Parts: sequence; C-alpha cells; structure tokens
Amino acid sequence: MTRAQQLEAIAIDIAREAGELARRRRTEGVSIAATKSSIADIVTEADREVEDLIRARLAAVRPDDGFLGEESDAATGTTGITWVVDPIDGTVNYAYGIPSYAVSIAAVEGDPVPEHWDALAAVVFNPASGELFRAARGEGAWLDDQRLAVNAEPSSAGALLATGFGYDPATHAGDLARVARVMPMARDLRRIGAASLDLAFVASGRLDGYFERGLHPWDHAAGALLVTEAGGVVGGAGESGSPSRAMTVAAGPALFDALRRAALGD
Ligand code: IPD
Ligand code: CA
Repeated sequence: MTRAQQLEAIAIDIAREAGELARRRRTEGVSIAATKSSIADIVTEADREVEDLIRARLAAVRPDDGFLGEESDAATGTTGITWVVDPIDGTVNYAYGIPSYAVSIAAVEGDPVPEHWDALAAVVFNPASGELFRAARGEGAWLDDQRLAVNAEPSSAGALLATGFGYDPATHAGDLARVARVMPMARDLRRIGAASLDLAFVASGRLDGYFERGLHPWDHAAGALLVTEAGGVVGGAGESGSPSRAMTVAAGPALFDALRRAALGD
C-alpha cells in the first residue's frame, strides 16, 4: 500500500462514520445554528458536530498532521500533511432535505493553500445515496469498486455542465453573466448544490464540466483530486492552474480550455 493509499483508507473509514452521523442527525431534524458570510450562508448543529467527530478521529490516528476545516480553527502540523475537511458540503440541501450533500475529506502535502499543496488522498461520501468516491494520488479515482474516467469529449449535443452561485447576493450578477457566456457550449446546466459532488460527477462522467466562482479550499480539495485521477483537468483563474476563490473549473481535457475561457470571459 502506498502512503497515499494509507491516507485514503483513513479518510474512507472516517468519512463513513461522519456521514452516518450526518444522516442520523438529518432524520432527527435539522436546526440552523448560525448564519456566516451572509443570511443564506448557514451552519447547522450537525455541521459542527460532524467536523468535531472527523477532527477527533484524525487526531487519534494522525496526531501530528495539520487540519483545515470549514467549521473550526485551522491547526499546523509537523508532518507536512494537512487534512482539508468539509464536514457537510451542500449544507443548504441538507437543511432542506435534498439528498445531495457530502462529507469531503482530503489529505494534502505542502503549504495548506491550494496554489501550493499536492493532494494525496480524497474521499467524497454522500450518506443519503451511499455513494463513496475516493482517490489516492497515482492510483486512480473510484466509485466504490468502479474505476472512474472523465468524459473524453462532450457529445455533439453540447456539454452537460454544472455550476454554483455564491451566498453573497452582490456576486450573482457576475454569476449570471458567466452562465450566459457558457451556455452556447452547453446541452444543459445543473446546479446540484454541493461542489464536492459536482467535481465527483465530472470525475465519473455524469457531467462534462463544472465551473464556479467563490469556492473555499475545503469545497474543492477532495473533488479536484477525484477529477485529475480520473483523467480530467482542474484549474482556476490564475497561471498556477489551481482552483481559487476567483474560479474553479473542471472538465475532460478536450473541453477544459474552452470552458475555462468562457467562464473567465477571456
Ligand atoms: C457550498 C456548496 C455549494 C457552492 C457553495 C459552497 P457548503 O458549500 O458547495 O454548492 O455553490 O459555493 O460554499 O456551504 O454547503 O459547505
Ligand atoms: Ca460545509
């Protein structure tokens, strides 16, 4: 087993336990704990409880690693490895009872910022569907025991794309202008509501491509490795080629450049 696969195995076990906790809490009823960056940006008690569980489990097996999660303070480690965690990606779906949310866990190496890290292992687990997407660097991306591959190119009907809209109303006009630029290459557009699942769906060929402005590192850390291990390309607005707040784009190699240019308005 490679080091990346060892980290992947840890992430799989913890994501399953965390996802089961989220699913159980969902059946018991969801309460909104607070709003964050805007009134639409919510956190539930379950988000916090699930992150606490993931953090405690990681601390027990990998006490010297760093941690970067959506709902608690970041911590620096001494091993060079940082766990990047979204305990519930798709919190609004979760709060409304739409079964498209996921536990997203990635192990990355290097400075814990997307421009500098190398992702080693990734898990995106949707406890409502039971689907677990996983990847270890150099070992491919998998949905359960099925190896994943991005679509080589969109069909002649156009690309099936997905996007998301940030919580800040001030950004919505830009989001809609971006959609207008991208639609000529699309057969249709999905807004699933969980960036980690959008990326997992690009990896598995359920989508041809995905673009979104405004993501945080924990939204894309795991999903981006799924896409690249499935033969796809992930990039952002800058030259570094990594996703950022300014832009995240993911697609198969034949579509990527055109989608990125349209999304950025280049
Ligand atoms: C959000 C989801 C959503 C995306 C937002 C994210 P959260 O994450 O991934 O699809 O459009 O940008 O913030 O808040 O549900 O963890
Ligand atoms: Ca979240």
